[in-house]
Amino acid sequence: MSEVTSLPNLRNPLIAPSILAADFARLADEMAAIEGADWVHVDVMDAHFVPNLTLGLPVVQSLLAATDIPMDCHLMIEDPARWAPPYAEAGAYNVTFHAEATDDPISVARDIRAAGARAGLSIKPGTPIEPYLEILRDFDTLLVMSVEPGFGGQSFIPEVLAKVGTARRLVDSGELTVVVEIDGGISADTIEMAAEAGVDCFVAGSAVYGADDPAAAVAALRRAAAAASPHLG
Ligand code: DX5
Ligand code: ZN
Repeated sequence: MSEVTSLPNLRNPLIAPSILAADFARLADEMAAIEGADWVHVDVMDAHFVPNLTLGLPVVQSLLAATDIPMDCHLMIEDPARWAPPYAEAGAYNVTFHAEATDDPISVARDIRAAGARAGLSIKPGTPIEPYLEILRDFDTLLVMSVEPGFGGQSFIPEVLAKVGTARRLVDSGELTVVVEIDGGISADTIEMAAEAGVDCFVAGSAVYGADDPAAAVAALRRAAAAASPHLG
């Protein structure tokens, strides 16, 4: 029995704290405070694709220099064909853009991968997954939004878990190899239902940075996901 850890049903859940809920004046310290996190989730918003503005490439470049945690860049922006590849060139581990923001997601994914990162496709709560199942072969991650993108601290929308289940079944059957990621409203109260539905990677902003001990909150979320999930060990 070698390589058992590579079996899908023995994977550990991944926890990706979102620094959207951190203190933006102390971002390096705030990333140090989540020691043990699998990925650090960075929300890039352009005030056009979503009605909020956060940070862009120069800040991401500085953040990359300040941490060894793999960076998960979530681009809530228009024109990802133009703006997404530089995040990969800068050294992001995974670069996710929105399906709703482009007519040519495959070429954006190819450009991100060619620049050295994994490519992620995100879908808003109201966007069906079926039209994108075929092209997910060109992606490494699928980010299912469980709130309307734009702001942290919103309530989890459980209806999106049907899309998680669809992706989970295709991954388990070997038809897709994406990491199934969920973003929005993940907390001790909601992570179990997301894990049961088949999520691999859990983004959590307020649940981590609103806690007295963010690193302990990460560990507790990971334990709760592992215990609740049939596919995570
Ligand atoms: C929302 C962002 C999320 C947000 C999640 O548009 O994409 O990553 O930070 O925050 P919580 O966990 O507080 O819902
Ligand atoms: Zn996000």
